[in-house]
Amino acid sequence: MDKLIEIKNLVKKYADKTVINGIDLSIQKGEVVVLLGPSGCGKSTLLRTINGLENIQGGEILFHGKNIHDKNSNWIEIRQKIGMVFQNYELFPHLNVIDNILLAPLKVQKRAKEEVMLQAEELLKKVGLEDRKFAYPRELSGGQKQRIAIVRALCMNPEVMLFDEVTASLDPEMVREVLDVILNLAKSGMTMFIVTHEMGFAKSVANRIVFLDSGKICEESEPKEFFSNPKTQRAREFLNIFQFED
Ligand SMILES: Nc1ncnc2c1ncn2[C@@H]1O[C@H](COP(=O)(O)OP(=O)(O)OP(=O)(O)O)[C@@H](O)[C@H]1O
Ligand SMILES: [Mg+2]
Repeated sequence: MDKLIEIKNLVKKYADKTVINGIDLSIQKGEVVVLLGPSGCGKSTLLRTINGLENIQGGEILFHGKNIHDKNSNWIEIRQKIGMVFQNYELFPHLNVIDNILLAPLKVQKRAKEEVMLQAEELLKKVGLEDRKFAYPRELSGGQKQRIAIVRALCMNPEVMLFDEVTASLDPEMVREVLDVILNLAKSGMTMFIVTHEMGFAKSVANRIVFLDSGKICEESEPKEFFSNPKTQRAREFLNIFQFED
């Protein structure tokens, strides 16, 4: 199997507080891994270390077998291959949709405008927003902004996508349209590492569930297994909360 990301004995501290406490985890090419766990357990921190937004205090993260936290790492290059979308859409407010999407492919990747434009239009069509090319972020709904943020990340041709609670700020009626985009991405074979609180979505999109608690992997299993028969007390407690919310 082709390991795209390999995390070995990862330790992340903020000052003297250990937030990631010895995590080992691999993600294969084409795999969709969903990361679950209670608030504050380190999900966002883990994702952010993979994208170099946080330094680490121990262990290593390999991407295609290469240690990305090496002092010689070229983060500009790595971040083109590891796309990330966050909870709060970070579109540039002064740029319209198409300019938001084209910016990095043109400036960072130095690609030809015609080629990127064709790809952007195709991606916009896939997320149902081909008619909003010239809209400004303030003219879009939260769900639309989040779909544009996903298109913008995809237009860099990443090899893996990290999603950190991308529907958490959305009104309920907009959650579905964003989750459907991610489900379609999964069908197309995109490798993904997803943090979500949408349990139904997690169950349907994931090849594997990783349950984190206090900075450690507490349980790792197939989605069906995890949701119907969690192995640990912590996971059972976690799932009970969501059942009450339904
Ligand atoms: N920049 C920071 N400085 C200090 N502590 C931090 C920082 N960022 C996060 N933490 C702490 O690290 C721990 C893990 O935070 P993290 O954001 O990774 O949790 P999470 O699992 O994503 O939670 P949530 O589900 O609420 O998003 C928390 O205790 C948090 O307070
Ligand atoms: Mg978080």
